[in-house]
Amino acid sequence: MCGIFAYAGTENAVPLLIEGLRSVEYRGYDSAGISVIDGSGAIQTVKRGDHKSSLSNLAEAVSDRRVSGTVGIGHTRWATHGEVNHTNSHPHSSSNGLVSIAHNGIIENFLELKDELVDSGVEFRSDTDSEVLAHLVGRAVESGSSLRDAVVAAASRVKGNTAVVAVSANEPEIVVGLRVGNAGGIVVGKNDDSAVMASDTIALLPYTSEVIYLEPGEVVEIEQGKVRLFDLDGSPISREPIVTAQNFEAAQKGNYPHFMAKEIAEQPDAVQSAMRGRVDIASGTLSLPELSLEREHFGSIDRVILTGMGTSLHAAMFGASVIESLARIPSIAENSSELRYRNPVIGPSTLVVAVTQSGETADTLAAMEHARSAGAPQAVVLELEGSQATRIADFTLPIRAGQEIGVASTKTMIASMTTLLQLAVVLAEGRGVVGSVQVEKIVEAIAELPSLVATTLGLNGQVSKLATRLSEFEDLLYLGRGAQLPIALEGALKMKELAYIHAEGYPAGEMKHGVNALLGPEMATVVSAPKNDLYEKMLSNISEVKARGGEVAVIATEGDEIVGRVADHVILVPDCPELLQPFVTLVPMQILAYETALALGRDPDKPRNLAKTVTVE
Ligand code: G6P
Repeated sequence: MCGIFAYAGTENAVPLLIEGLRSVEYRGYDSAGISVIDGSGAIQTVKRGDHKSSLSNLAEAVSDRRVSGTVGIGHTRWATHGEVNHTNSHPHSSSNGLVSIAHNGIIENFLELKDELVDSGVEFRSDTDSEVLAHLVGRAVESGSSLRDAVVAAASRVKGNTAVVAVSANEPEIVVGLRVGNAGGIVVGKNDDSAVMASDTIALLPYTSEVIYLEPGEVVEIEQGKVRLFDLDGSPISREPIVTAQNFEAAQKGNYPHFMAKEIAEQPDAVQSAMRGRVDIASGTLSLPELSLEREHFGSIDRVILTGMGTSLHAAMFGASVIESLARIPSIAENSSELRYRNPVIGPSTLVVAVTQSGETADTLAAMEHARSAGAPQAVVLELEGSQATRIADFTLPIRAGQEIGVASTKTMIASMTTLLQLAVVLAEGRGVVGSVQVEKIVEAIAELPSLVATTLGLNGQVSKLATRLSEFEDLLYLGRGAQLPIALEGALKMKELAYIHAEGYPAGEMKHGVNALLGPEMATVVSAPKNDLYEKMLSNISEVKARGGEVAVIATEGDEIVGRVADHVILVPDCPELLQPFVTLVPMQILAYETALALGRDPDKPRNLAKTVTVE
């Protein structure tokens, strides 16, 4: 939520800041802006608050090269305080013109700080909470503080999680960055000519693959070819950079029209990659080397709580269902924003599994911190290694899908599900619930996953026709049961996120308890009903919708000749073991939402009001 990029070096920072912002734009696209220190030592700021055209408009605005300088900061915004417009765009300058800052996070006591500043004569230009930081830092610099001391002092007045970068006309060679709590990460790197700082490693890769992640409570100064790290008391910190495995090309769109299309298409590889080094097809065995729990510890786990937000919560729900059914451990999935505040009973015998592709979601991190303080062993299933979640968890289970840029998660969900399925098998075997012969059978089935997923990608044409029809509705209902419930919920979430169609995901058995009142020709229903023990129940639910005049689309199993007699539209997915059905029903749900968004002229990569990484609660 909000992207930061900063550069200090020898080249003109302006085009470099624009490029850096392109890499972090997926984190927020309500506005874009840069501040650079020009040749005369003054701060020049250019910004645009034009929703998703902000960055391209900003790039155009600075293309005449009238603004230039070798040190600068940039920001892309996801609005929290103040509407989307030019004045609320970052960076924000202090009234004395000495300082410019870009901020990520929420200043919870901003009204109190704003009143204090206004009383002392400061005139605010924006409605943002962030502007208070600009004035606090600006005043401290004016009274003689170094930029670093001023940023630290200002941050100490602020309640809430903060990531901030700042430049000062008094120290034109440096940029200061500070992180308090979890408001998005800050990562820094350098080469001989420059030093850079960003919210996301990907933005640093054109400069270096050796990076340093700031911990909460740390501050950094960057200067041409130099990175200096300190704690908040000013003591220097020495930390060796780590070599990141992230790759810049992987985060480019290539020939695809949208990142989302590319990421949907990458799912067979994502699944394969999540299995690498874990599933051994030749020997029929499966292991999770990263889960270094002693075997006897497996037996002492009496409950598993999985947690996450958005699509990751749906992956967690799948995980809970598969862990409970295979490993026979009571398992639930819970929304992290609820888990963190309800004082749950968690202890050393509870295994907590957080699912978060970014490893940065504020609520998920808070739930994880709660679990850590309760002494629970904790694993995190995630894409972005090096993110804060890896530092909270005891075990990091990377999903290795490759960086996802599309705001709506696709390949990271399927790779998280693959990882959770493997976790379920490892727990089941570790507890002696399944033996090696059963594991061998499961491995044999899992080995087919990449090709099963690849086959579902071929359904694009059929799904696209259905999308054209569904785009005519204003309300949709998604139904599923058992392991298909998270898939139905995900289908509805995707449709809301991308096509802006009101879509409700429901357990099919619950429909008689209220949602039936909505049935009729105005609302279409999408049902996930592959052939399994619950299939007949689903057929009855489909008939109930039809009996009330509703149009029904069903995702069913190849060879199913019955469902076509009751439903209006049928998408047939490959026949496969029940354990794998959620993978093959998920993909058409994703394509359906993508194609419906296109049919309605929406931009699937930049849905309105959303951001990929939600670093505020
Ligand atoms: C945002 C994104 C979703 C994502 C969710 C959780 O809402 O738009 O695609 O599922 O955050 O993100 P995480 O990084 O924790 O998986």
